[in-house]
Amino acid sequence: MEPVVILLAFIIAAFSIIASATQTNPDDAAAMHALARALGADGAMKWSPDTDPCSWNRVLCSDGRVTSIQMGNQSLAGSLPPELGNLTALTRLELQNNRISGQIPSLAGLSSLQFLLLHDNNFSFISSNFFVGLTSLNAVYLDNNPFEPWKIPGSLRDAGGLVNFSANSANVSGTVPDFLATAFPSLDHLALAFNLLSGHLPAAFIGSGIRSLWLNNQVGGNSLSGGISVIQNMTGLEQLWLQSNSFSGPLPDISALVGLRDLQLRDNQLTGPVPNSFTTSKSLTRITLTNNLLQGPVPEFSDSVQELDLDPKTESFCLEKPGAHCESIVDILLSIVKSFEYPVRFGENWKGNDPCGGDWLGITCDDRGNITVTNFQKMGLNGTISPDFAKLPALQKLLLSNNNLTGTIPATLTSLPYLTEVDLSDNLISGEVPNFPKTVLLKTQGNPNISINVLNPVSFRPGRNNSIPANSAPPGRNNSIHGIPESNEVPGSKGKSNSIQPGIIIGSVLAAICIISLVALLTTWHYYKKNSLNFNRVQSPNTTVIHPRHSGSGPDLVKVTVAGSSANAGSTSENYSRASSGSTDVHVVEAGNMMISIQVLRSVTNNFGEENILGRGGFGTVYKGELHDGTKIAVKRMESGVLGTKGLNEFKSEIAVLTKVRHRNLVSLLGYCLDGMERLLVYEYMPQGH
Ligand SMILES: *[C@@H]1O[C@H](CO)[C@@H](O)[C@H](O)[C@H]1NC(C)=O
Ligand SMILES: *[C@@H]1O[C@H](CO)[C@@H](O)[C@H](O)[C@H]1NC(C)=O
Ligand SMILES: *[C@@H]1O[C@H](CO)[C@@H](O)[C@H](O)[C@H]1NC(C)=O
Ligand SMILES: *[C@@H]1O[C@H](CO)[C@@H](O)[C@H](O)[C@H]1NC(C)=O
Ligand SMILES: *[C@@H]1O[C@H](CO)[C@@H](O)[C@H](O)[C@H]1NC(C)=O
Ligand SMILES: *[C@@H]1O[C@H](CO)[C@@H](O)[C@H](O)[C@H]1NC(C)=O
Ligand SMILES: *[C@@H]1O[C@H](CO)[C@@H](O)[C@H](O)[C@H]1NC(C)=O
Ligand SMILES: *[C@@H]1O[C@H](CO)[C@@H](O)[C@H](O)[C@H]1NC(C)=O
Ligand SMILES: *[C@@H]1O[C@H](CO)[C@@H](O)[C@H](O)[C@H]1NC(C)=O
Ligand SMILES: *[C@@H]1O[C@H](CO)[C@@H](O)[C@H](O)[C@H]1NC(C)=O
Ligand SMILES: *[C@@H]1O[C@H](CO)[C@@H](O)[C@H](O)[C@H]1NC(C)=O
Ligand SMILES: *[C@@H]1O[C@H](CO)[C@@H](O)[C@H](O)[C@H]1NC(C)=O
Repeated sequence: MEPVVILLAFIIAAFSIIASATQTNPDDAAAMHALARALGADGAMKWSPDTDPCSWNRVLCSDGRVTSIQMGNQSLAGSLPPELGNLTALTRLELQNNRISGQIPSLAGLSSLQFLLLHDNNFSFISSNFFVGLTSLNAVYLDNNPFEPWKIPGSLRDAGGLVNFSANSANVSGTVPDFLATAFPSLDHLALAFNLLSGHLPAAFIGSGIRSLWLNNQVGGNSLSGGISVIQNMTGLEQLWLQSNSFSGPLPDISALVGLRDLQLRDNQLTGPVPNSFTTSKSLTRITLTNNLLQGPVPEFSDSVQELDLDPKTESFCLEKPGAHCESIVDILLSIVKSFEYPVRFGENWKGNDPCGGDWLGITCDDRGNITVTNFQKMGLNGTISPDFAKLPALQKLLLSNNNLTGTIPATLTSLPYLTEVDLSDNLISGEVPNFPKTVLLKTQGNPNISINVLNPVSFRPGRNNSIPANSAPPGRNNSIHGIPESNEVPGSKGKSNSIQPGIIIGSVLAAICIISLVALLTTWHYYKKNSLNFNRVQSPNTTVIHPRHSGSGPDLVKVTVAGSSANAGSTSENYSRASSGSTDVHVVEAGNMMISIQVLRSVTNNFGEENILGRGGFGTVYKGELHDGTKIAVKRMESGVLGTKGLNEFKSEIAVLTKVRHRNLVSLLGYCLDGMERLLVYEYMPQGH
């Protein structure tokens, strides 16, 4: 038995020695010989055609299969043979730093291939299905090859374990595909610099743990563009090179990028101020920012930044001195354009520290250096309307039409005292329209989702199409009686009365009351006219006595007590000194100084005497009266109970509106009185009509 065993062992041993020593897998051997011939490696690398390829220099085998070829930096030329695709056990193929040209053949069967180094050669073509089946790929280097322009093929997705992918200067065209950010959970280094890429930084990078990303220096008239805000969530980043592109918008907050040390952003169109997170970062050692459109103050970097490339002269900073604060008006304007995502046009145009001194895009100022107009129409603006427009106290016109603005109209805008026009037409604004003072011409047409429920066919402003008068109806209600015509003049745009309280609401009840009371008045006058009661219209200086814009300021004024503001609370006439002292429960319409005390009205109407009644209507009685200075007035005393407390605000609102009304067919409201249950309106009395 023993000899048989020994013989068998010997045969097996001999067979295996022969196999391992001389028998490279024949397909592999054929492929290696083809490779040697194609690249002239028999000479250059002393790959003798007579020896077994597994014995060759820089070739590793395992079990007769070629697993590794390392031919980098051997001055090889020629092109790769298709047989290379037969080396199915190959895990590493290094051919970098040679002059190999032509097409990279299909390696579709190389499912074990992990490392593919083809960079720095003269390859001219890579097929779009090149990566099919390369499921084990770990690192791919294709840099510095004159490929015909190619796109990163979707077949790369097969390489789920990809860690490094580098194809700088390799004529990669198209966009940065989303799957680069999502398909490779272990992706560590992605380098596509000096290519022909265009489009945006994919938002999909938001969850990526990538450590180094090079997308810099796109060439041939191509560049990456759009915002870079996604970076704030790429918390694994250590090295980010985005320089020499067309990225725009603000710099991201990098406070979560605790490992970021090398940040290159120069030569883009980045706008807005440099965020604090840039100067407080503890990890940054190298940063380039030159040649952007950065705004706000020049940042002061900490000493840990060893290499800083930031030339303030190339930017749009307000001042050139690091750390110097901008004028507050500049800060306000920057905060306004922040809501538009810092458009490039403002970055290019708004330079320096004086918005009124230069020719700042869209800004108009008055002589005193106050901004009166912001005209940002047709600028392709995105984003929302900043509530900080309200910080421009002298603003008269806010023009934002024909943009792509979304969001709602900030209620703060209604408080701007000198505002006369707000044009928001043709945007994508939604939500409710806040109540602007009646003096404001508000245009909101062309915003499909804005919630206005006006629309009374009666034109409030004849000749101005589609202009929705502020306050013509509260959002969500469909009132259709607001028949008070209004002149095109914007009254009181310079005076006190302009500070009408925002948010006034007019209800239909009040409108109805109003109309009826006006009709009643007109009827009454008509009646008196017929009966030749020849009142003379009181002439100008006196009729203006209790008009809010003049109350307390003219020479022959204050014949009648006008309460309602602190300035006037004490200015009582000699005749009616009780007026202000008894006014503890007098309601004040913050809007104006049109409050007239009940005592005055009692006095001038002979305590609402029968003999003073001009007429009666469904809602109350109208009394005539004559003020101390001879001004004739008509006092409309509402029937108590007509207006409950619920209607009080509407009453006040209507008063605010009526004070603005100047129309040839209507008389002016001179004032009003709210006292306990008393509700009185005081009109100028024109016995001769108009
Ligand atoms: C390539 O070889 C040359 C000399 O042949 C040497 O100077 C160079 O450093 C090598 N490069 C690499 C990357 O090995
Ligand atoms: C080896 O490669 C060549 C060329 O691609 C091909 O024709 C041949 O069928 C391959 N042989 C094997 C065994 O796959
Ligand atoms: C690169 O390949 C092209 C042909 O594809 C050839 O004309 C050129 O000479 C090659 N360059 C080098 C440096 O080998
Ligand atoms: C890119 O492709 C163009 C046209 O095919 C070629 O002229 C150019 O040399 C290539 N550039 C690079 C960097 O490979
Ligand atoms: C990936 O790239 C990084 C940096 O470029 C390098 O340090 C690392 O060794 C590479 N890893 C592989 C698997 O090539
Ligand atoms: C992105 O980062 C911002 C700021 O750090 C954070 O508020 C936001 O939730 C992050 N988004 C995601 C999807 O992580
Ligand atoms: C607004 O955006 C849409 C698509 O988002 C675009 O088609 C349109 O041109 C934009 N309008 C303006 C005025 O920029
Ligand atoms: C608005 O957004 C669009 C689409 O992202 C962009 O093309 C355009 O430049 C943006 N407009 C401004 C003024 O930034
Ligand atoms: C206008 O500017 C002057 C001086 O700059 C300032 O005192 C004043 O308050 C401003 N007025 C308004 C309404 O902003
Ligand atoms: C308007 O609102 C509807 C429903 O919310 C929405 O589907 C639509 O996209 C909105 N249109 C615009 C222009 O915002
Ligand atoms: C009213 O709108 C129409 C159509 O939109 C326009 O042709 C006309 O000129 C406008 N009239 C005025 C006074 O704006
Ligand atoms: C006004 O409201 C009434 C009832 O709420 C409704 O029937 C009517 O259609 C509305 N009219 C308009 C123009 O919205």
